[in-house]
Amino acid sequence: MKYIKLLLLLFILQTQAQQGGMWIPSLLKGMNEAEMKSLGMKISAKDIYDANTSSLKDAVPQFNGGCTAEVISTKGLILTNHHCGFDVIQNHSTVEHDYLRDGFWAYKMEDEIPNKDLEVTFIVKIEDITIKILEGVAALTSETEKQKKIQENISNLTKNSPKESWQENRVRNFYDGNQFLLFVIESFKDVRFVGAPPSSIGKFGSDTDNWVWPRHTGDFSLFRIYADKNNRPAAYSVDNVPYIPKKSLAISADGIKENDFTMVLGYPGRTQEYLPSFAVSQIVEDLNPAKIEVRDAALKVQDGFMRKDNAIKIQYASKYAGIANYWKKWIGETKGLKKSNAVAIKQKFEKSFQEKVTKAGKQAEYGSLLSDFEKNYTDIKEYSIARDYFTEIVLRNTELLATGYKLYQLEQLLTTKEEQAFTDRKTNLINGLGDFYKDFNASVDEKVFEQLIAIYSKKFPKQFLPASLENVNAAALSSDIYSNSKIISYDKVKELLEGDSKSVIEKLNNDKGYQLIKVMADSYLKNVGPKYDEINLKNIATQRTYMKAILELSLKSDRIFPDANSTLRVTYGKVKGYKPNDAVYYEPITYLDGIIEKYIPGDYEFDVPKKLIDLYNTKDYGLYGVKGKMPVCFIATNHTTGGNSGSPALDANGNLIGLNFDRVWEGTMSDIYYSPEICRNIMVDARYVLFIIDKFAGAKNIINELKIIYPAIKK
Ligand code: ARG
Ligand code: GLU
Repeated sequence: MKYIKLLLLLFILQTQAQQGGMWIPSLLKGMNEAEMKSLGMKISAKDIYDANTSSLKDAVPQFNGGCTAEVISTKGLILTNHHCGFDVIQNHSTVEHDYLRDGFWAYKMEDEIPNKDLEVTFIVKIEDITIKILEGVAALTSETEKQKKIQENISNLTKNSPKESWQENRVRNFYDGNQFLLFVIESFKDVRFVGAPPSSIGKFGSDTDNWVWPRHTGDFSLFRIYADKNNRPAAYSVDNVPYIPKKSLAISADGIKENDFTMVLGYPGRTQEYLPSFAVSQIVEDLNPAKIEVRDAALKVQDGFMRKDNAIKIQYASKYAGIANYWKKWIGETKGLKKSNAVAIKQKFEKSFQEKVTKAGKQAEYGSLLSDFEKNYTDIKEYSIARDYFTEIVLRNTELLATGYKLYQLEQLLTTKEEQAFTDRKTNLINGLGDFYKDFNASVDEKVFEQLIAIYSKKFPKQFLPASLENVNAAALSSDIYSNSKIISYDKVKELLEGDSKSVIEKLNNDKGYQLIKVMADSYLKNVGPKYDEINLKNIATQRTYMKAILELSLKSDRIFPDANSTLRVTYGKVKGYKPNDAVYYEPITYLDGIIEKYIPGDYEFDVPKKLIDLYNTKDYGLYGVKGKMPVCFIATNHTTGGNSGSPALDANGNLIGLNFDRVWEGTMSDIYYSPEICRNIMVDARYVLFIIDKFAGAKNIINELKIIYPAIKK
């Protein structure tokens, strides 16, 4: 009987654990350890996070603000994604040394390349300081006052909490402002480039395969952290030495198979798992379609030019990839939310929430939350739509308007600030715009403008649309603006910006392009911005109380995890295939054979280096292959999001088995609703990384630094 009960408990734990979740490493012991063990984990919560002795968290820094990396040698070697190192690799590339095209490998430490403005940040300690942050807040009545007090407490505790001189304190809020944690962090600023495969490996499949499974991308690059003589963070210096980490990961060459336990440590950026149904339905019906429509049009224009002109292809490659990345994500997200009936599931949750509120006698406190949401989201709808069109069309995808908006902000500065502030901003702007214009092509942008301004005229909510944009003749307007405005070239913009504030403002206001952006920005900032902010503030407050209520009324087994907020999290699950569509099943592991199947000689997305084809033909996989095949990528049920790029995927023993870099398209809705059926994260297999470093690049120096655990049978 006891045995059956135990089995039942294990079964429940296991199925629940397939529900996603991004957990706080310092709280795993109480919240997750039992479940993780039931899934197969062999190490303890203490091995993952311990403030006093070295633990896995000491091997996982945030990489340059937006990605994750992991330490894989006792000499500070770190691994992250190729797409996370992309800018660095591009910056060091020239026509003679094109590291993007050909890859780069430092065969000795002296060849490692220093970088300006590249940093990695480790977490030293995490502490719950909720009580201190909320001190004196409950007594206040208005939302604005409360927020002010919280901000005050945050800045005091950030300033005054103990830390070493080279460390920093950071306070972050969790559960929509119901919990506050203090992070003591250490940032290393001398991070050197060690190696990356050619893009035909590191970015294999490019935009066509982006967000797609089955996948065959070797999305990794290598860096090394340098420290001063005391092993502490320091600015770049020739005297710096390789950092000796508190912890480095061993790499398992044993591989994985379906149903194996995996966990991912990293810095997921933002999720919205507790939005009410009203908000989700707005995303599905109104907001995502608006953003997709705009980017669809912009991408079509850019693609047309890029296909015809190689110089434009280079100029727009990175911009295009940036726009396409989220365009494709939103399409997948919208489809996934619909297909999984996310709105209906939320409604069901809300119904039972309301019942729990009544049962707990909390009507007065929580009874009106959902009707408040309903009213707020109805009220904000047109403002949100306007905001998304403005952001996507003006600030993000029409380069002339985006640049014009910066000039507009310069003029606005004068209403509050002195001449000196104006001059400083102007100088910064002139310096900054140089890089922008290098990759700007007015003919491309003119055609983008023509498409997007037509969308603005048609789709921007009528009540907020400037009169001059009603029924606009887009072709006539774009040719007028692009043949007359000075914003179309760096030299001409510099002319506009010459002189004191008075003459600059006068010139700007005579410019056709500037006149348009001013009309658009003025009307947006007057008719949309303030009202949006006002309702949004109400939503933030309601969301905080809603979250508080959910936490209060839930059971531990409800597995309520805090939304991602760019802090270190642990997510876990199992290696698993999925069924994207009727009659289709995707297996969880891809092999080099698939690269050869996708190979299109000379193609910019699907070309394959000759050396890799040779290795495939000779099956020269060393100890990294299995049964004559070379594994490349795999998927699992780990719940990840943007920012988890480069995150280590670990096995039951805490050894590295892969590197997270993407999610499957059908499951990108996991930022809003995680469905265990189809949400999967995509990782590059550690064995493929080792194979590329060893057999493809011949970088034995790197291999020799690593601690690789080979399966017993191969030793
Ligand atoms: N989808 C991945 C992420 O969100 C990879 C993006 C980089 N690759 C690309 N083809 N744009 O960051
Ligand atoms: N590629 C994403 C990143 O850069 C990770 C993929 C995702 O959004 O899950 O963080």
